[in-house]
Amino acid sequence: MSRTGNQAKGQKPIIAVCGKGGVGKTALSALLARGFLDLAAKPLLLIDADPAGGLISVMGQKAKSSLAQARERMIESARSGDPAAKTRLAQDLDYLVMAALEEREGYAFLAIGRMEEKGCFCPANTLLREAIDLLAEPFALVLIDAEAGLEQISRQVTRNVTKVLAVSDGSARSLDTVNLIGEMVGIERMAIVLNRLDEKAACAIVDGLPPALARSQVLGFVPEDKTLLDFDRQGRTLWDLPQDSPARKNALKIAKVLLKEANSVNPDATN
Ligand SMILES: Nc1ncnc2c1ncn2[C@@H]1O[C@H](COP(=O)(O)OP(=O)(O)OP(=O)(O)O)[C@@H](O)[C@H]1O
Ligand SMILES: [Mg+2]
Repeated sequence: MSRTGNQAKGQKPIIAVCGKGGVGKTALSALLARGFLDLAAKPLLLIDADPAGGLISVMGQKAKSSLAQARERMIESARSGDPAAKTRLAQDLDYLVMAALEEREGYAFLAIGRMEEKGCFCPANTLLREAIDLLAEPFALVLIDAEAGLEQISRQVTRNVTKVLAVSDGSARSLDTVNLIGEMVGIERMAIVLNRLDEKAACAIVDGLPPALARSQVLGFVPEDKTLLDFDRQGRTLWDLPQDSPARKNALKIAKVLLKEANSVNPDATN
C-alpha cells in the first residue's frame, strides 16, 4: 500500500510528523528515527517540536537544555542590560540553538520545550522555524515531531519542510485533521501514515478516503503493537523495541520509502 508523492529537486529532506493529538506522532517519529539510523541515513537531526516534549525520552535520551530553557537563561542574563541588548541577545539564534543542541553518534537532537511569549522576544514558533533553517544544512535528513494540531503549520514552522507526514489512527476526527493539513501545506507535500491499524483496516480507510484526500500519497501503516504500548507504559525507550516487532518493522518500511524518495530527487541527500 503506497502511492507516490513528490519533493522538489535538490531539496534536503526535512520531514515533519503532524496530526491530531494522541494519534502516535511521537511513537512514529522515534521509530522512523531508529529506522533511518538502521538504514545509515546519517547524520540525522531530530527535533522535538512539541512543547510538552516526549520524543527525546522515547528515544531514551535526556536533553540537557531545551531551546526554551536556553532562551530563558539568556533573557535572565540580559535582564540587567539595556533593552536593545536584551533584544539582541534573545534573538542571537546561533548561540541559543548551540546551547540546546545535543550531539550523539550519528545524530543530534533539539527539544523546543515550553516557552512563554515575552514582549519583544522572538515567539516560540518563529524561533523554532528559524532554528530548523539554521541547523538543517549539515544533516542528511531532518525529522520533526510536531505539536498536535495545526498551530505549528499555520505559524509556518513547516515552511521549509519537504514532507509533512500526516498521521491518522483511522478515526474520523484524525482524518479531518489530515484533510486540514492537506489544505494548509498542499496535498503534494503531505503523505498519510495510518497508525494502530492492521493492513486490512488500513486499506479500508484508504479506499474510503474523502475525495479531497483521494490523491494523497499514502506511505503505509503501523499496526497496533502491544510491545510498543508496554514499553511506553513502562517508560522504556522505543529504540529498544525488538527488530521484529510489528511497529518497528513497518516503520522501517516507511523510512525506506522516504529515503528512496529523497534520494531519487536529491542523490546526495542521505549518502
Ligand atoms: N502502533 C502503536 N501500537 C500501540 N500503541 C501505540 C502505537 N502508536 C502509539 N501508541 C500509543 O499511543 C499513545 C499515544 O502515542 P504518542 O504519544 O506517540 O501520540 P502523539 O500523537 O505523539 O500524542 P500527542 O499529540 O500527545 O503528542 C502512547 O501511549 C503510545 O504508546
Ligand atoms: Mg507526541
